[in-house]
Amino acid sequence: MKLGVLTGGGDCPGLNAVISGVVRRALFHNIEVVGVMRGWRGMIDCDTVKLTRNSVSGILHRGGTILHTSRTNPCKNDDDMKKVMENFTKMGLDALIAIGGDDTLTVASKMYDAGLKTVGVPKTIDNDLSGTDCTFGFDTAINIAMEAVDRLHTTAESHNRVMVVELMGRSAGWIALEAGLAGGADVILIPEVKVSMDEICSIIKKRHNSGRSFSIVAVAEGFLLEGVEVTQDEGLDAFGHAKLGGIGNYLGAEIEKNTGYETRVTVLGHTQRGGTPTAFDRVLGLRFGVNAVDLVVKGDFGKMVSKRGNDIVSVPIKEAVSKLRTVPPELYKLAQGFFG
Ligand code: F6P
Repeated sequence: MKLGVLTGGGDCPGLNAVISGVVRRALFHNIEVVGVMRGWRGMIDCDTVKLTRNSVSGILHRGGTILHTSRTNPCKNDDDMKKVMENFTKMGLDALIAIGGDDTLTVASKMYDAGLKTVGVPKTIDNDLSGTDCTFGFDTAINIAMEAVDRLHTTAESHNRVMVVELMGRSAGWIALEAGLAGGADVILIPEVKVSMDEICSIIKKRHNSGRSFSIVAVAEGFLLEGVEVTQDEGLDAFGHAKLGGIGNYLGAEIEKNTGYETRVTVLGHTQRGGTPTAFDRVLGLRFGVNAVDLVVKGDFGKMVSKRGNDIVSVPIKEAVSKLRTVPPELYKLAQGFFG
């Protein structure tokens, strides 16, 4: 049996742990493994590398992905889709494990419908995939973001400033919510909840009028300020997503204008995805990798491995990509209890 594995979409801490889990488990079953380079791009270009025990030696602690990644969308045109199907046969593959978020797994689901034997592994720092309690990479991202929020406290206090920190997450506010809550942010703003400029300023003013001389505002990149989505430019990526970013600066300027408090902005950006994964993400990645191979061995295709409580189970990929998993209102309400 020959198994392909690819990593698609934005990179994410823990990807190498999944690859390691896949390869070690596949070799245990005497399955040959090839890595498909740069996500779905490698399936179009027939770009593969043989993966051995040596290939996955010493990669567990490394961020990024040894297979590289891209946001290539082969479903955008029929020719690319056809090439993926043809190359699957040309490469002599019996199955393909796709490690990715919403976009990569939507492609995997479409490929499965078209006859390709695929298994999915849920990856994203955004934690916005349905069908699983969480994705790997999220824990690392919130710890990086939490540390940044922690560090902003001392400089904010020393200068009596408002500090705005912009965090990733696309249309889901998980990173801002959990890092903000853990880091003791005074206001947390997420795409799922409308908060007006007046409300934001009144929380900050109330706090400053009651003896505290600084504030930290954690804002998710997808937060809509008075209904406005802030993007880096007009362009869309291959999956039609707007390139979010810039809300921090926009919000910071508005806060300074409306409160009169000196305000500074920090945009964490890709640091949230870079570097070494946490122990949680490494272990989850390994477990996902091992269980994905077990699905292949059982011939249980069109499925995605998923975390449910402490167990790793499987769900149809289609179900996982059918809707975004967003922050529930009750969790935001809980966080609001700590604002100001
Ligand atoms: O989906 C992961 C993510 O990091 C989002 O949080 C962010 O909006 C996006 O990817 C950034 O994409 P890129 O790496 O293409 O700039």
